Amino acid sequence: MRYAPIVDRLANEGARAWDVHSRALAYKNEGRDVIVLSIGDPDFDTPAPIVEACIDDMRSGDTHYSYIDGSPQLRAAVAAYHERNTGQAVGADNISMSLGAQGGLYGAAACTAGPGDEIIVPQPVYVTYESVVHATGAEMVSIPLRPERDFHLDPADVEAAVTPRTRSIMINTPHNPTGAAYGRQDLEGLAEVCRDHDLWLISDEVYSRTLFDGRRHLCPATLDGMAERTIVVDSLSKSHAMTGWRVGWVVGPPSLRQHLYHLGLALHYGLPTFIQQSVEIAFTGDFPEIATMLAHYQKRRDLVLDRLKDVSRIRVIKPEGSCFMMVDIRDSGLTSQEFSDRLLEEAGVSLLAGEGFGPSGSGFLRFSLTAPSAEIAEACDRFARFVRGLNR
Ligand SMILES: Cc1ncc(COP(=O)(O)O)c(C=O)c1O
Repeated sequence: MRYAPIVDRLANEGARAWDVHSRALAYKNEGRDVIVLSIGDPDFDTPAPIVEACIDDMRSGDTHYSYIDGSPQLRAAVAAYHERNTGQAVGADNISMSLGAQGGLYGAAACTAGPGDEIIVPQPVYVTYESVVHATGAEMVSIPLRPERDFHLDPADVEAAVTPRTRSIMINTPHNPTGAAYGRQDLEGLAEVCRDHDLWLISDEVYSRTLFDGRRHLCPATLDGMAERTIVVDSLSKSHAMTGWRVGWVVGPPSLRQHLYHLGLALHYGLPTFIQQSVEIAFTGDFPEIATMLAHYQKRRDLVLDRLKDVSRIRVIKPEGSCFMMVDIRDSGLTSQEFSDRLLEEAGVSLLAGEGFGPSGSGFLRFSLTAPSAEIAEACDRFARFVRGLNR
């Protein structure tokens, strides 16, 4: 029997970099002493009141079909939350709930591009973007984020990549894997390209509440002429340690909401009812846990910077946000894939090789900050010993 072309488009190479992560998990299962910093799942619990609300909802029988794109009350709560966070004035009609940000990214891409179109994506790139773009039938056109700019986007690179087939640009700030957070200048330049060529901007903002050193997130939808062409994709996964709940949303024009409704009808029929009910408090309530998590991520970042500052031939790039940081190992004499393989086998630390995120990530390793400080400190010490061994 034959399958459709989409199955080939979706089966991209599954980067070799991820082998290290799978191996690390297998070693851990065997009881070996391995520190796994190769994935970005927060090591905190979902705030207890949200969990309790969900249990109550299930007990009270909220276990039937619900709204495909989110209940009106939930969408209104998300709209108010988005407005508080970004300053963009939106209402319930601008919001569609999605299965995590991941579902929102697919919806946004699929409703704005298709076969024969191109979507521009800066790389290193979060690993699922390639599948998202290819699932729509469009081509992914990569532009480099350069280490010499600390992985900040250069609007001139975007401009140079635009063709008559370009439909959208898909960005993520603060950025996984590099931790770069685009500033006003980066985003104004990007907005100009979007306006000049009449492009959509798909803005993945899952780390917008994970910004360090008191930075404030700048949502590109608030820039001149950008509200009608920006689609913001966001979720509770990282900010509220709720990766398993799959609560995401898309902010865009009301017409987009209609299209996402039709996609939802075909794909999932909406978030579980008891989750739609209970997460409303995540958007309206005040949870001190959120600031505490952010403080932990920043402390862990500072710990890595401090522990690795005197190790010669490597450079740690200070992230401005997200749960990740990049270490430049280009002077180590190893490729980042070799480095990551050997670090796991010889030192018991699992980090992802930058090339797993695209060629611009070559020569870098990604540290995840989603583990307790003691583990991160131990991983840094092992990392430093490993590098000193190489240097000798
Ligand atoms: C940049 C980026 N976008 C989207 C996602 C997916 O988030 P969600 O769990 O909300 O689907 C992730 C998860 O790691 C991510 O790093």
